[in-house]
Amino acid sequence: MVLSSTLGIPATDNVPRHVAIIMDGNGRWATRRFLPRFAGHKKGVDAVRNIVEACVDRGIKYLTLFAFSSENWRRPPDEVSLLMRLFMHALEREVTKLHRNGIRLRVVGDISAFEPRLQELVRDVEARTANNDVLTLSVAANYGGRWDILQATRRLLAERPELAAQPDLIDESMLSSYLAMAYAPEPDLFIRTGGEKRISNFLIWQLAYTELYFTDCFWPDFDAAQLDLACQSYQGRERRFGRTSAQIQQPEVQAATRQPADH
Ligand code: IPE
Ligand code: IPE
Ligand code: MG
Repeated sequence: MVLSSTLGIPATDNVPRHVAIIMDGNGRWATRRFLPRFAGHKKGVDAVRNIVEACVDRGIKYLTLFAFSSENWRRPPDEVSLLMRLFMHALEREVTKLHRNGIRLRVVGDISAFEPRLQELVRDVEARTANNDVLTLSVAANYGGRWDILQATRRLLAERPELAAQPDLIDESMLSSYLAMAYAPEPDLFIRTGGEKRISNFLIWQLAYTELYFTDCFWPDFDAAQLDLACQSYQGRERRFGRTSAQIQQPEVQAATRQPADH
C-alpha cells in the first residue's frame, strides 16, 4: 500500500480513507447566541461524538481532529485550562464506548506539556484501544505541523547520528517515518469548519496532496449531513497527483507514467 503521495500514487476511492478536520468556530457559535465561548467548546464535544459515529457508518478508516494547536497556548489562561479539562473529561467518559465500538484512539502532539494526570490518561486510553481496527481516531493536541517536522528530524538524527555527516542519505520516507502520524496514510480529505481558509499549522507535511474543503458551518453545527456534503465535494474532485487529466481517464496513457529516474 502506497502511503506517500509524493513517492507513489496512492489508491483512491469514493469514500475518503482518511479525513482530517480543523474543528473551528466554537467561540463564534457561542458568541452569536450570547453565550460564553465555553458553551461552544462543550457543544463541540457533542459534535465530535456524532462525527466519529458518522465516520464509522460511512466506512472512513482514519479520522484526525485538531483539538488544540501549539499556538492555542496564546489564549487566555482560563480558556486553555477549560479546554484541557474538557479534553480530559471527554477521554474519561468516552473510552469505554470507543473501545466497544472498535475505535483505536491516538493522541498526536507534544503531550509532555500536559499535566501528568492527563498524560497518563492518554497513555492508558491508547494502550487499551491499540488493537482496534474499525476506525483510528487521532486527536491532535498541542500539535503543530512545524513541531512535528522538527521532532521527526531530531529523533531521526538522535537515532542515526551518522546521517549528520551524510545528509544525502536522508530521504522522504526516512524522515516521514518519524512523523507523529507515521501509522496513518496521508489525509484524503481535509475539512475546516468556521469559515477561515487556512491550515493554521495543522498537518503541513501530510496535506501535500490532500483535497481541501472549507465550510462556513461552525463546528458545533457540523453533523452527518455536513460531512456528507464534504464527501460529495470530495467525490467530484479529480486527484491527479501531478499527472494530466488524460492520464487519469485513459488507462493506456496512465501506463506511461514515469518517475524522474526513468528519463
Ligand atoms: C475551535 O474553535 C476550538 C479550538 C481552537 C480549541 P475556536 O475556539 O477557535 O472558535 P472561534 O474560531 O473563536 O470561533
Ligand atoms: C485551529 O483553530 C486550531 C484548532 C481548531 C484546534 P484556531 O482558531 O486556533 O486557528 P486560527 O488562530 O484562527 O488560525
Ligand atoms: Mg478559531
